[in-house]
Amino acid sequence: MEPKIITIAGGGSTYTPGVVKAILSKKDTFPVKEIRAYDIDAGRQDDVAIIVREVVKANCPECVFTTTTDPEVAFRDTDFVFAQIRVGKYAMREQDEKIPLRHGAVGQETCGCGGLAYGMRTIFPMVEILDMVEKYANPNHWILNYSNPAAIVALALKKLRPNARIINICDMPVAIMNGMADILHCDPHDIVPDYFGLNHFGWFTDIWVNGESRFDELKKHVLEHGYLCDVPDEQHWEPSWVHTYGNAKTIMQRFGDYLPNTYLQYYLLSQDIVDESNPDHTRANEVMEGREKTLFDAIARYKETGSYDDGMFVVGAHGTFIVDLAESLCRENGGRYLLIVKNEGAVADLPDDAMVEIPCYVSPRGVEKVSVGHIPTFYKGMIEQQYASEKCLVEGAIEGSYQKVLMAFSLNKTVKSSTQAQAILDEMIDANKGYWPELA
Ligand code: NAD
Ligand code: G6P
Ligand code: MN
Repeated sequence: MEPKIITIAGGGSTYTPGVVKAILSKKDTFPVKEIRAYDIDAGRQDDVAIIVREVVKANCPECVFTTTTDPEVAFRDTDFVFAQIRVGKYAMREQDEKIPLRHGAVGQETCGCGGLAYGMRTIFPMVEILDMVEKYANPNHWILNYSNPAAIVALALKKLRPNARIINICDMPVAIMNGMADILHCDPHDIVPDYFGLNHFGWFTDIWVNGESRFDELKKHVLEHGYLCDVPDEQHWEPSWVHTYGNAKTIMQRFGDYLPNTYLQYYLLSQDIVDESNPDHTRANEVMEGREKTLFDAIARYKETGSYDDGMFVVGAHGTFIVDLAESLCRENGGRYLLIVKNEGAVADLPDDAMVEIPCYVSPRGVEKVSVGHIPTFYKGMIEQQYASEKCLVEGAIEGSYQKVLMAFSLNKTVKSSTQAQAILDEMIDANKGYWPELA
């Protein structure tokens, strides 16, 4: 295989060292000649690059690593763009989480009003990236997008740039499947899921290992322990994540057909989540005090001592998944993944233009969807409501319509009434000045 050029958009991300390590750990089957980091925050990216350069030196010194804030330099002739931007960074994530909580609604990065607000910030910067990639990159490039809220980003980009060579992805199902592999004592790569839903809003309907369904065993485990297992995914070990993995138990006890995505807790257990939350200290604070601090402390130490601890960042499901997917786009290796794709009949009961998360086969020809068929009323109803909320938001952002965005907030299952929706929305508009499109 020709060695590839990969550009990481959001080069200053806390995930960049792990993603670069994941890329280089596959160099024998997926050779890469150049990695470029692209960000709009040069200072943050240059700091993170201090560690990334060491990762490159240790794992593949012949690979060229550069950083830039110039889109032409970043995307010229590139083969892959791994996108992981956070528009407004953690400071705005904190607002997404704290504003709804102050009004008694779920405050979360990608779910409920917080996710809608983050969507409003992210749609147009992602369109800009798509246009620059289209202009400069190898015509056969692929953009693999992690940038959240992936459900809304996927829906908006499909509407605004329907022909873009982008695949929207999420590491949550992969992390859950890593736990399933631990529970079933098998290799994570041997887990074959059946699944349907929207991003952060889906259900596993079966789990296969070497041609055999292991679903009943898993359901029994989740009924007793949720997704808690002996060796959780490396990136989800903190107490709040452990609690989230445990909550799958309550959802299973109530609705035992399928295994839930962990993010369904925000919709099905919303009041419990609000009651447990501290509006003065949310997940954004935990991440700033945890993952981000650990990385920037290591950078500071490196500046003083010239050495760093390789153990302070992880590859995890996040790094492994995106590189496995890129490799499958370059070789016929039977790659089957859960991806966020245009429905077009795959889930029979959902609209054609919904962006659904379902199994897909991936090869150099691109993405081939697996047909899911009909889904039961409860799941269909939940998904339709969430899809309507996200679709109103996308239309509201594009049309600059206050009313459509209010409809999006009002329709969301985490919101009790349009009075609550409006109070949250109005505070969000103030907090997001300079980030959101103008609404009239
Ligand atoms: P982070 O704040 O550490 O990094 C994000 C970087 O993006 C920052 O350096 C920021 O300057 C940069 N950025 C912001 N706007 C940009 C733009 N327009 N162009 C280029 N760069 C820009 O955030 P993080 O916690 O490392 O997460 C990065 C992103 O990955 C977030 O969107 C997060 O939600 C997402 N994520 C998604 C998944 C998934 O399953 N889809 C998993 C993990 C993380
Ligand atoms: C999971 C999800 C991502 C999300 C991340 C947040 O991996 O799939 O979409 O961005 O969790 O994790 P954090 O540790 O930042 O709260
Ligand atoms: Mn995700």
